[in-house]
Amino acid sequence: LHIAVLMGGWSAERDVSLMSGTGVADALESLGHRVSRVDMDRSVATTLAGLKPDLVFNALHGTPGEDGTVQGMLDLMGLRYTHSGLVTSVIAIDKQLTKQTLVPLGIPMPGGRVVKTAELFDRDPLPRPYVLKPVNEGSSVGVAIVTEQSNFGNPIARDAKGPWNEFDELLAEPFIRGRELTTAVLGDDALAVTELKPKSGFYDYDAKYTDGLTEHVCPADVPDEIAEACRRIALDAHRALGCRGTSRADFRWDDNLGVDGLFLLEVNTQPGMTPLSLVPEQARHIGMSYADLVQRIVEEVMA
Ligand code: DAL
Ligand code: MG
Repeated sequence: LHIAVLMGGWSAERDVSLMSGTGVADALESLGHRVSRVDMDRSVATTLAGLKPDLVFNALHGTPGEDGTVQGMLDLMGLRYTHSGLVTSVIAIDKQLTKQTLVPLGIPMPGGRVVKTAELFDRDPLPRPYVLKPVNEGSSVGVAIVTEQSNFGNPIARDAKGPWNEFDELLAEPFIRGRELTTAVLGDDALAVTELKPKSGFYDYDAKYTDGLTEHVCPADVPDEIAEACRRIALDAHRALGCRGTSRADFRWDDNLGVDGLFLLEVNTQPGMTPLSLVPEQARHIGMSYADLVQRIVEEVMA
């Protein structure tokens, strides 16, 4: 097949996407496909119209490759593409819309609300500790944990460094103490449960992409009941949102509370495919190489 791999773009996760896309493109070439590597810019539609690929492999992260915009363009152009479609992407990129979709179906997610950042300088939106995050970024870009002892001030000081400098509104959620778990879904299967143990602080951008800063425990050393719940929730969420191909569900688990302490944080419809990424790692755990995984994602679309 002639496959165009879309990567890069202009989101905050550009560098991550270049790593994902390069990995995918190399794997596709090793599988014998003809690959065009496309670093997305504003004339991407013209580029793709010229290339006329059999398939577009979407290796973009963040806006506009993960939020429905690129999906809508590809739909209009009549090009087949990997991963989720337009409506799913629109919902899943937005952590608040995801909650509004999944919580009524019984999927446990943290409460919280979207606040104008200016309000943060008057009063805390929630009791501390709480988490502030952009509604639609990935890779922990712009995430801050506001604790009782936090040096952001109380209330947060206007000149304190944080996501309030960059975003007009932020999602505030109660901070869930305990552990960080994740489960990948591929087709009809939840692959495994991984626990992320950052060596210091939380599982932020550096901890995600710097080798050695986070220990990945796969399969996670958690009770069967918790592992089962992660798999079930990841699959339920994948199906409820209408995800295609692969997705990854991220969780916090308060291990003082048993299964009642398990909360889905979000569903990633364009999960990372870098060498340190979790979907390839879980695939490996079930005996599927990186190239096998990429081939599976392609086959799912071409079937
Ligand atoms: N947003 C990053 C790429 C992930 O979910 O893996
Ligand atoms: Mg994410």
